[in-house]
Amino acid sequence: MQEVQTVVEEAERALEAAPDGETLEAWRVTWLGKSGRMTLLVRSIGELPKDERSEAGKTINIARGTLQRAYEARKEALEGAARALLLERERIDPTLPGAPIPLGNRHPIAAVMQEIRSIFQEMGFGEAHGPEVETDEINFEMLNIPKDHPARDMWDTFYTTHGHVLRTHTSPVQVHVMRACAPEPVKVICPGRVFRYEQVTARSESMFHQVEGLEIGPHVTMRDLLGVLQAFARRMFGDVRNIRVRNSFFPFTEPSIEVDVDCFNCEAKGCSICKHTGWIEILGAGMVHPVVLENGGYDSKAVTGLAFGLGVERIAMLRYRIEDIRHFYRNDLRFLRQFQSA
Ligand code: DAH
Repeated sequence: MQEVQTVVEEAERALEAAPDGETLEAWRVTWLGKSGRMTLLVRSIGELPKDERSEAGKTINIARGTLQRAYEARKEALEGAARALLLERERIDPTLPGAPIPLGNRHPIAAVMQEIRSIFQEMGFGEAHGPEVETDEINFEMLNIPKDHPARDMWDTFYTTHGHVLRTHTSPVQVHVMRACAPEPVKVICPGRVFRYEQVTARSESMFHQVEGLEIGPHVTMRDLLGVLQAFARRMFGDVRNIRVRNSFFPFTEPSIEVDVDCFNCEAKGCSICKHTGWIEILGAGMVHPVVLENGGYDSKAVTGLAFGLGVERIAMLRYRIEDIRHFYRNDLRFLRQFQSA
């Protein structure tokens, strides 16, 4: 009995000192294992006088049970402590401010493009798109610009292979739209990229954006055209703006006009933006030439059409007073970041 008591006490002291799972397992092998101290005690029962054996057996069993429970309790405690430590390490403080996520912003051309599109959308224009690589036929001939005609000089052209060109303007989308819609009325804008084989300067890039407009129907007039363009100019440049119209020439319109807006910078008094004229040119337009209507599949005696084409970079440069078109495609963040709210 005395020996059992000593073994238990010794085992309990060792158990309390076990700092981790590894020492705990070593403890279990030493005290409760197959050839551990308790097992040896059980074996030694046989050496006792017969009448003491049953009593000793009971005592040892109780002692073994005590150690087994103590072992399990210690194991539980150590595992709990390990879990708590892990949780503590993973602890987060939801009251701390978050790490800022760097945000980009819309490119100024994308922003102005979007603005132009929504202005025309509100006026009832749908939207159509065409390919950036066109045939010479659709980019020029169907628009009443024959081969070798001097009017071709208006568009310096990138030629690709097999009679294809990079479209020099969005006007060829008119042809696609007409062919798809004739003889029904249409009212669409065609936004997109265009390409010109030109010296890159502060005023001209070899790639830029245009928005084409086209409305065809039985009663479309020059007054409709002026109304649309006046409304656009006011939405784009301010409620008090006025437009003026100058005579011009494009092969695909007759008559052709160029449209100016009175200078929003100096209230038409004269400044560097309007080159001291009080007026700023914003777009070309006209009534669709009967030949072009016929090329598109319309009966030019039954319908008329209005058309216009504007340069998006030009509008953006006026809007944000940018003096060099090359800024748009240099990807200089110092430039682009100025349009954070655009
Ligand atoms: N396509 C012309 C250009 O790129 C712009 C233009 C002028 C478009 C008059 C039109 C128009 O639809 O009617 O210079």
